[in-house]
Amino acid sequence: MAVKTTSKTRRLRDLVRRHGSPLAVVSKALLRRQVERFRCALPRVEPFFAVKANSHPEIVKTLAQAGCNFDVASVGEMELVRRLGVKAQRMIFANTIKPAESIASAAKAGLTLMTFDSEYELDKIAAAAPGARVIVRIKVPNVGSMVELSLKFGCDPTDALPLLIKAHKLGLRPTGLSFHVGSQCTRNENYSDALEIAAIILRDAQLKQLPLEILDIGGGFPIRHFDDEPDPFESCAALVSREIDRLFDSNLRIIAEPGRFLVGPAVTLAMRVIGKAIRDNKHWYYLDDGVYGSLSGLIFDHAKYQYKVMRNGRTQLSTLAGPTCDGLDVIARGEEMPELEVGDIVYVENCGAYSTASATWFNGLPPAKVVVLP
Ligand SMILES: Cc1ncc(COP(=O)(O)O)c(C=O)c1O
Repeated sequence: MAVKTTSKTRRLRDLVRRHGSPLAVVSKALLRRQVERFRCALPRVEPFFAVKANSHPEIVKTLAQAGCNFDVASVGEMELVRRLGVKAQRMIFANTIKPAESIASAAKAGLTLMTFDSEYELDKIAAAAPGARVIVRIKVPNVGSMVELSLKFGCDPTDALPLLIKAHKLGLRPTGLSFHVGSQCTRNENYSDALEIAAIILRDAQLKQLPLEILDIGGGFPIRHFDDEPDPFESCAALVSREIDRLFDSNLRIIAEPGRFLVGPAVTLAMRVIGKAIRDNKHWYYLDDGVYGSLSGLIFDHAKYQYKVMRNGRTQLSTLAGPTCDGLDVIARGEEMPELEVGDIVYVENCGAYSTASATWFNGLPPAKVVVLP
């Protein structure tokens, strides 16, 4: 897609001239704006940023300063966040399957709030972190979400209460209930269905004298990738907020683990054309980043991106490919774009989540350099 020269494209061109490419440009202002949007739309929900989405230290620091807490999936993430000055008490260890040594290290550091979804995990937690506060994760519908999580994680909702009772018997503190509707959730009803199920379990727990303090509504909040689509977040959050008010007492603490929503829109990836060819009557452009780098989300995250260029003119169907020697490293096959030249910039907005986080050094090609703007 061709775009007009604007202050945004001029600035991107300057940054690439100064820092080279591929370049991931992080905007702290956009990070803060996402936190503000989250708070505004979900006033009862405390955001715990899912560090896995993007663990760049400046991103973590900015979100910490904006008052976010953190969802960590490993001791590595916990240590990274602690090194940046955040106390373990501001984190949740939200991986339901953890090595026993990690549970012990987390507890030693003061991170005692953790999720689980099986009896085996409870036994490990009871042995490695006696008295820990545990949150049971249930399986909920993930229909229409880009990344399906309910096959791999979450107990059957009918098992939640027996597991919490077992946690109590093991000397742990049954503290809450969690779910994840699937990442980039495009069906708002996944949240309303999950909240209904959660309300029933919380009521049953109360009846069994196990009052729960925390409901963790996970991540999944969607972002926009294409300019011609409506932004899906506010309508999704409005439904969640309404259902929370309808279903839960005002003294229930409600937390969430947004990853994509907080960091996705805050990063633009700029790449350059390093080579071109005509194959089967079609232009192929080879870029300096691809599937093994910052666009790894094409594979791991099932992501779809909008590729923008800084040239106008008659467009033609073109293929974009990454720089490695692997045939899999093809970014997009049917892009309408004007003819590009070697050195041209191709850029992708809303590219901050599950992108640089899973980039590799395959073929000896370094991951994109990151610049952070205020
Ligand atoms: C346990 C957990 N919490 C939070 C997230 C973040 O989800 P999202 O980026 O969709 O907000 C994930 C993503 O995989 C997850 O597995």
